[in-house]
Amino acid sequence: MSMSGPAKKITAVKGMNDIMPPASTAWQMVEDTAARVFATYGYAEVRIPVVEETQLFVRSVGESTAIVEKEMYSFTDRNGLPLSLRPEGTASLVRAYVESGAYVAEPIAKYWYRGPMFRYERPQKGRQRQFYQIGAELLGVTSPYADAEVIAMMAQLIRELKLDGVALEINSIGCPTCRPSFNEKLIAHLKSVEDELCADCKRRMAKNPLRVFDCKNEGCKHVLDSAPRISSGWCDECRVHFDAVKDALTSTGVAFVVNERIVRGLDYYMRTAFEFTTDQLGAQNAISAGGRYDGLVRDLGGPDVAGVGFALGMERMMLLLEAQGKAAPPPSDIVYCAVLGEKALEAALPIIQQLRNDGVRVEWDFASKSLKSQMRRAGKIGAESVIILGDDELAKGAAVVRDMRAQAQHEVALKDLPRHFVNIGE
Ligand code: HAM
Repeated sequence: MSMSGPAKKITAVKGMNDIMPPASTAWQMVEDTAARVFATYGYAEVRIPVVEETQLFVRSVGESTAIVEKEMYSFTDRNGLPLSLRPEGTASLVRAYVESGAYVAEPIAKYWYRGPMFRYERPQKGRQRQFYQIGAELLGVTSPYADAEVIAMMAQLIRELKLDGVALEINSIGCPTCRPSFNEKLIAHLKSVEDELCADCKRRMAKNPLRVFDCKNEGCKHVLDSAPRISSGWCDECRVHFDAVKDALTSTGVAFVVNERIVRGLDYYMRTAFEFTTDQLGAQNAISAGGRYDGLVRDLGGPDVAGVGFALGMERMMLLLEAQGKAAPPPSDIVYCAVLGEKALEAALPIIQQLRNDGVRVEWDFASKSLKSQMRRAGKIGAESVIILGDDELAKGAAVVRDMRAQAQHEVALKDLPRHFVNIGE
């Protein structure tokens, strides 16, 4: 006998959750819906690595962003190469695009991806350290129609998932031509109210002043009401672009509100920035977010190719679906096979296999047990019908099939079983 007692349990790492059934089935439903919707817009899936060179995120997401400054899981490999678990997908996707040279053959590329992302944040409802995104990126188009199209695609996904109460908030954060002078104006204002700003905003003021608009602190929000508005800093091109995005959204039937406080926490954005938000999840209110990032492909060593895209947070999506009672996967027809007797046990295997080959979902208990206990289990798992395989029926080449809803049963010849059940769900 071991003296050490029961082995100590190992738990999952804080902020990294298991997605167990039946939740995982609901996740699959969302992923399948996204894959189907995105395919109608011509997006193809890309599988990108979970680990990248740290430099990739420093150069794209930005050195002074919260993500790169304090949220990355970074380490060196055995050869001393600085690596990080990806905190987001756009950087990897663009790296893959540049590396593959896809732009040589095709000027417009549409990709989507899904998978876990990692950020060392303080875990709370809708915020994990390992979380899942589904993202989409449209590369090679500067037209505002591209911004509108990716937004419309996300809006269609929300519609197809039948989610209620999701708002689309859009903004333009200017471009490298107009943003520097706006930042100067903003900094001048922030300096005049510096004493009233939180410590975070004081730091943002020096490194990335636009980010002050994103501050959740009520005091800062109030102080910023009198700050110069970002729209006052737009150059003509930015203004024209934003107007065209709004017109295109209107003409495609996508409702939106302009919110000049949507500024995004990643450095690669320019012009259009947007978030799909809900007031049903508390503080973590963005279920999907994105924007335009012309210049990123070039900054990562590729040609001067425009980009626009978004990523949705799966956990937040699932929380919202659950809150609205829409996460339940459609029930599948279950046929339970009750086996009574040793001969029946032998005969059951090929019968069950044949049914499964024909696409019928069959459950059984891997043993011959009392009819009572097997019927109880059939009821528990919600079987639509039960095949009762007993030695007597087998001798006649038949089985009893019980319809659990109608509470009626009849004999079916074994050779007719597959046909009987293949038709059931139709
Ligand atoms: P992001 O705003 O950092 O953008 O993340 C997108 C979405 O991922 C958020 O709106 C949220 O739903 C989810 N999310 C982010 N962090 C967490 C977390 N710690 N826990 C749970 N969910 C989270 C990006 O990542 C950009 N790459 C989006 C993009 C694609 N822009 C252009 N293309």
